Amino acid sequence: MTRRKKVYEGKAKILYEGPEPGTLVAYFKDDATAFNNQKHARLEGKGVLNNRISEFIMEKLNTISVPTHFIRRLNMREQLIREVEIIPLEVVCRNVAAGSIATRLGLEEGSALPRSIVEFYYKNDALQDPIVSEEHITAFNWASTQEIDDMVSLTLRVNDFLCGLFAAVGIKLIDFKLEYGRLYEGEMVRTIVADEISPDSCRLWDMTTNEKMDKDRFRRDLGGVTEAYAEVARRLGIMKDPPPNLTVVGETGAAE
Ligand code: TMP
Ligand code: ASP
Repeated sequence: MTRRKKVYEGKAKILYEGPEPGTLVAYFKDDATAFNNQKHARLEGKGVLNNRISEFIMEKLNTISVPTHFIRRLNMREQLIREVEIIPLEVVCRNVAAGSIATRLGLEEGSALPRSIVEFYYKNDALQDPIVSEEHITAFNWASTQEIDDMVSLTLRVNDFLCGLFAAVGIKLIDFKLEYGRLYEGEMVRTIVADEISPDSCRLWDMTTNEKMDKDRFRRDLGGVTEAYAEVARRLGIMKDPPPNLTVVGETGAAE
């Protein structure tokens, strides 16, 4: 492999300089973290699965004119993406109560929400990504009101699209997290979907059994993490057979 310049290393991905200006290569690692890195494991094959699942979803979004940073997959673990300025927010959309909203508002996990809810969290590991309001976002200049409007409407479009996509293969989309970036095109700045969309960033439950098919299997020590991701890929028609050898290696840290 030729030596490339590392631009950024996150918990689950590494970004390298791309072949042309304005592009980056995203490398999907096998690392899984939860609770702000307190819990860490290497789940063999996770990076390959997330690269493929994210490719599949981002390509579909591009075809319905939801702009994303995805250009094309390069190999098993890498994809070529557009370089954007990441907006420091995690945009979460929820259809069913689970995770932090269930805890915060005392809702029963699995109860339907009155409507889809979009929330913003400030991306800051030291503060453990606190939930924030539009007031905070504009006051601290993390994003403009126009960008907030764009993120909400794009997120709701992605939600409708993904609910249908997953329902067709017997999966309920409980919630998911998106990140957005600013794409500078001459005088223009566009808000586009960035990062990844995968079982790491979604809650996916089997439609009939409610079995969890996402990162909550790791967060809650349920086992079978990559097997569940492989089943999502298989149902979406991405991978015929789950990759062999899906053992969990090097798990450390506290359980929930
Ligand atoms: P939450 O219920 O823990 O707030 O998570 C909401 C959704 O966001 C869920 O689908 C998991 C996803 N998520 C991430 O992708 N990254 C994170 O750091 C967290 C906390 C949640
Ligand atoms: N991504 C977050 C972390 O590494 C947590 C999560 O997904 O639950 O801490």
